[in-house]
Amino acid sequence: MRVLVTGGSGRLGRSVVDALAAAGVEVVSVDTAPQQRDDEVVTLPADLTDAGECYSTVARFRPDAIVHLAAIPAPGLASDVRTFTTNTTMAFNVCQSAADLGVGHVIVASSPTVMGYGNPAGWQPSYLPLDEAHPVAPWNAYTMSKVATEDVVHGFALRGEGTYHVFRPCFVVAPEEWRGAPSQGGRTIRERLENRKAAAVSLFNYVDARDAAEFVRLLLVKRDEVPNGETFFVSADDALAEKPLSELLPEYTPVSAETAGVLKGTASAFDTSRARRLLGWQPRYDWRSELV
Ligand SMILES: NC(=O)c1ccc[n+]([C@@H]2O[C@H](COP(=O)([O-])OP(=O)(O)OC[C@H]3O[C@@H](n4cnc5c(N)ncnc54)[C@H](O)[C@@H]3O)[C@@H](O)[C@H]2O)c1
Repeated sequence: MRVLVTGGSGRLGRSVVDALAAAGVEVVSVDTAPQQRDDEVVTLPADLTDAGECYSTVARFRPDAIVHLAAIPAPGLASDVRTFTTNTTMAFNVCQSAADLGVGHVIVASSPTVMGYGNPAGWQPSYLPLDEAHPVAPWNAYTMSKVATEDVVHGFALRGEGTYHVFRPCFVVAPEEWRGAPSQGGRTIRERLENRKAAAVSLFNYVDARDAAEFVRLLLVKRDEVPNGETFFVSADDALAEKPLSELLPEYTPVSAETAGVLKGTASAFDTSRARRLLGWQPRYDWRSELV
């Protein structure tokens, strides 16, 4: 099997490329900033916002599947218009190239931020833990770009040719970040753990990049057994917090004590039972055992 991974040099992409290559998959990693590797993985520079570059890359390698991770991966890293147009244009180019060139399967990264938390105008979940049925409430350019991306993926799935799936990885922690490398946003994971106000904005969510990569691998393996167009949350079992979220959410976020009360012990605010049920996926890494 040949899989083209976009954004393969990134925080999540590196683990996805590693996991697929280790499983014997022929991997092509495409990124504006290709990473030097000393293994069999092919790396290629391409700007996927350019439809011609995207098409020619897919046509050149004729992959069986595309894992689309490339994006401006958070709000505030670029102007709003650039964030929105980059993310939506790339998602469309990747899906359209896949459809036109007969790629059978596409997996696209969205984000749990589509839920709408962190909105300064206020946000309340309808219920916790958040699952895939919970309504989205995008309010900034990044979250709007991810909802639009999900719509693009679902639209291609409706055509009935090839399979198209979305996953929403929680705050991705790359292996070196457990040992003190800066995480997304510049803080170390320990600083994030200690700075509750910052971590509260995204409901103390996280997932180890290797667990998210294993999710991608399993979805590739079971792609034809899963309903087309399905969306999945991908979260660690627990929260990146030293206290239960039933205490922390009412203290640091607008979530009421009553709503947060259903989260028992160390539980995450995100429900991953769909990924467990349909794929047999289970996170293996957590901050208590990984953080050095
Ligand atoms: N990191 C997180 O916590 C997190 C959480 C939720 C969702 N996500 C999503 O997961 C995906 C991967 O995120 P990440 O943290 O690995 O981001 P990252 O920034 O580390 O990696 C993204 C990669 O995409 C590449 N890229 C950007 N624009 C490109 C373009 N025009 N053409 C080709 N490549 C381009 C970048 O060079 C980079 O290597 C993104 O879609 C992001 O929105 C990430």
